[in-house]
Amino acid sequence: MTKLTRPSLSPLKADHFFSISETSDQDLITLLTLADYYAALMQSGSDIPRVLTGRTQVNVFFENSTRTNSSFELAGKKLGADVLVVPVAASSVHKGEALLDTVQTLAALNTDAMIIRHKEAGSCKAASAALGAAGLSTCKILNAGEGTADHPSQALLDALTMFQSLGRTPDQGLHGIKIAICGDIRHSRVASSNAQLLPRLGAELRFVGPEALLPPEESYPEIDRYISLEDGIQDADFVMALRIQFERLPDGLALSKEDFFQAHGLTHERLAPAPKAFVMHPGPMNRGVEISGALADDPQRSLVLKQVQNGVAVRMALLDAFLHVGHNSP
Ligand code: CP
Repeated sequence: MTKLTRPSLSPLKADHFFSISETSDQDLITLLTLADYYAALMQSGSDIPRVLTGRTQVNVFFENSTRTNSSFELAGKKLGADVLVVPVAASSVHKGEALLDTVQTLAALNTDAMIIRHKEAGSCKAASAALGAAGLSTCKILNAGEGTADHPSQALLDALTMFQSLGRTPDQGLHGIKIAICGDIRHSRVASSNAQLLPRLGAELRFVGPEALLPPEESYPEIDRYISLEDGIQDADFVMALRIQFERLPDGLALSKEDFFQAHGLTHERLAPAPKAFVMHPGPMNRGVEISGALADDPQRSLVLKQVQNGVAVRMALLDAFLHVGHNSP
């Protein structure tokens, strides 16, 4: 079996992982290259170097999560870190403790990395400022999904999945690749982070959905918008379905799941204009709303579980790159 060697990479410029737009091109390629290495290492069954032995990671998720929370936990454990997953529902948050007191308290446990999910945009930066004020700024903050604007680790795992499907390495980019993101784009932090990332990697990105679920044109002047699913996915290499974020819809916007599926749900038949496209979904999926169960489960077309798998590799790369002091050692 080939011995995989950790790529020799420059240390990151960033101190924290807040968003894709605040991550340099070089740091993005470093993170994707490292994630590609960890994905290959796990695939090979080789031992994983426990580069984070003695380091402490705390996951604090103020919003629900299955994929992101569990993959960050697994990633830290595989690299040898001590990992604490805070049970927010049973924590002192429900005695009225403020976010900033919670993060200062958790960072005071000699925490090296705090993984935060929160419904409010700006929470990770507010947490970082609170740690700075308390003399705890060595604790790195990694954004695990915040408001409607940022879910940067999801965008990285989506890009890694595309590179693997194309047989490309991250430094080869996504030039010539057409990607259609379909569904509720207006309220999706996954769409927002992918819009920050995929064009920078060279891809042609399109947004496809009903007018009420598309972002304002001026927010993304470079991205073509389509109301028609048939037109929007034409010749796409990747078609990504997004769920309707019912918890974030404004009052008065009533949407029928049945009507949405009729007009915008992805099925084998509706993919006819994109005959070679792979289908992606960040999860959680609503079968029979934004995607049919048959398409989601089709191993020839669907990359959904590959995305989940790559979530671990991407989060290992993030933890390694932000916490591992011996950056260029094998
Ligand atoms: N994709 C994603 O963020 O899923 P979870 O909400 O389950 O973490």
